[in-house]
Amino acid sequence: METKVYEIDPKAIDEAQLEASAQVLRSGGTVAFPTETVYGLGANALDEKAVKKIFEAKGRPSDNPLIVHISKLNELDALVEEIPPNAKKVMERFWPGPITIILKRTDKIPDVITAGLDTVAIRMPSHPIANKLIEMAGVPVAAPSANLSGKPSPTKAEHVIHDLKGKVDVIISGGNCDVGLESTVVDMTGNIPMILRPGGVTKEHLEEIFEKVEVDKAIEEGNQALTPKSPGMKYTHYSPQAEVIILEGDMESVVKAIHKLQEEKEAQGLRVGIMCTDETKKLYKNGVVISMGSRKDLATIANHLFAVLRQFDAAGVDIIYAEGVEQKLLGHAVMNRMIKAAGYHVVKVGR
Ligand code: TXA
Ligand code: MG
Repeated sequence: METKVYEIDPKAIDEAQLEASAQVLRSGGTVAFPTETVYGLGANALDEKAVKKIFEAKGRPSDNPLIVHISKLNELDALVEEIPPNAKKVMERFWPGPITIILKRTDKIPDVITAGLDTVAIRMPSHPIANKLIEMAGVPVAAPSANLSGKPSPTKAEHVIHDLKGKVDVIISGGNCDVGLESTVVDMTGNIPMILRPGGVTKEHLEEIFEKVEVDKAIEEGNQALTPKSPGMKYTHYSPQAEVIILEGDMESVVKAIHKLQEEKEAQGLRVGIMCTDETKKLYKNGVVISMGSRKDLATIANHLFAVLRQFDAAGVDIIYAEGVEQKLLGHAVMNRMIKAAGYHVVKVGR
């Protein structure tokens, strides 16, 4: 299948190219596009056949439901049974933006989107290309992250081209994604908001407008025996080709432990990757050393994480040792993705 690649500048949108992409969506095709979180692979959410093409292109398991993207609030009525007052509060504060809201669905939504659940995930992205594309298409747009299933989510057009060229109708190349991690998923069907997937909008952000915010226990570290409420969270994910091992603890002990492990692996003839931070980068001499960003600025770490995982693939390392980050604010979302990339292989060291 031939994939058209359109370069569109988010600051000076070429409306003709965007209209051509909107037309592809309306006629049942697939379009990958940038959002403020990660690139998405979109299709008309009300067209079952079109939505099935997304699952095929990604190799996505059919029991993993999709997020429906809208550009205006008035599109909601056709999609959800009701908008509880608390859900409205989240929309008013954080939309358009990196948070997805789970609500009771209507019958208009094809089962293939919700994987048979009686709820649907809805998001209104703030990225100008995403927002305008959905508006021009005139239909709600189902879109998972635009990566092959199991691979790190794409934060640059080149990642999408690498994974999906030849498998989708259009790829819009529109620069780097701001947040770099997928949206927060919050279930607003109950009285208390419950975070099913941590993301750009943090628990602390939600606590600014709610007295109580819960987190699905199944996504907390060490609880992987529980079944997550968000089906997608049960899959291993974000995995580069090499094995990933996370080292958690005080910095001195982590660096020391990585040095020792690295020596052992290199003695066996293996090529070692070290995923570190600006604060520790100079302390590693050998191997493929890539910093995710500064510990003082978790947003840069979130922004680089997936691209760095892909860089290790390109470098062809055999094993990756990754420094953990503190689990506060955006650190929850960062560690959630890192732990999954590592298949839950976390080693605690030091104090
Ligand atoms: O930032 C994002 O959310 C990106 C961009 C493209 O918008 N999209 C994205 O989609 O990350 P995806 O498909 O990779 O992740 C969607 C997550 C999955 O974990 C899925 O299981 C969950 O949302 N989800 C979808 N519908 C759900 C529902 N009704 N109840 C619970 N979880 C749901
Ligand atoms: Mg995904």
